[in-house]
Amino acid sequence: MNRAVVPGTFDPVTCGHIDVIERASALFDDVVVGVAYSPDKGGGPLFTVEERAELIAEALSHLDNVSVQPFDRLLVDFARDAGATAIVKGLRAVTDFEREFQMANLNYRLDDSVETMFITAIPEYMFLSSSAVKEIARHGGSVRGLVPENVAVALEAKLQTAP
Ligand code: PNS
Repeated sequence: MNRAVVPGTFDPVTCGHIDVIERASALFDDVVVGVAYSPDKGGGPLFTVEERAELIAEALSHLDNVSVQPFDRLLVDFARDAGATAIVKGLRAVTDFEREFQMANLNYRLDDSVETMFITAIPEYMFLSSSAVKEIARHGGSVRGLVPENVAVALEAKLQTAP
C-alpha cells in the first residue's frame, strides 16, 4: 500500500489544491490530506481547522481513496504515523520554489524515510492562492471557478459574520 500525505493550511481549499489532490490520488493507493492548524499563518486562519477539513472532505467525496485529517505537529511525524512514504505538495509559480525547497530539505533532515514530491500546478491555477481567494471574496468579487462550489458558499456565509 503506497500512501501519500498532501499537507497544507487550506484556508480555504482552492481548485488548485483539489487538482493536486486528485492527481496524487491517481498515483498513490491512498491519500491522506493533512490539514495543519497553522494558527499564525496570515494573521490566523479564517476557517477553523474542522471547517477547513469538512470543506475538503465534501469537495473530494467522489474519491474513495482520499481521507482528511487535521494535524498540529511536525509534518514528518504526522506522515510517518499515518503510514505514508511520501509528502506530496503542489508547486505553482517560481515564487513557491524557495519556501518549498527549504521545507522539503528540513523535512528530509528530520526524517529521511519520508520523501517529498511535487506536482506542478496546471497553468489555469498557477497564480491561484487561498489568500487571493479571500481577498477577492472580501471585496465582493466572484470566486466561482477558483474554489469548489461548497467553499464559495461557505466563504460568503463566513464573511458575513467575520469580515
Ligand atoms: O499550504 P501551506 O500553508 O503552505 O502548508 C504549510 C505546511 C502546513 C505544509 C507547513 O507549515 C507544515 O508542514 N506545518 C507543520 C509543522 C512542520 O512540520 N513544520 C516544519 C516544516 S519545515
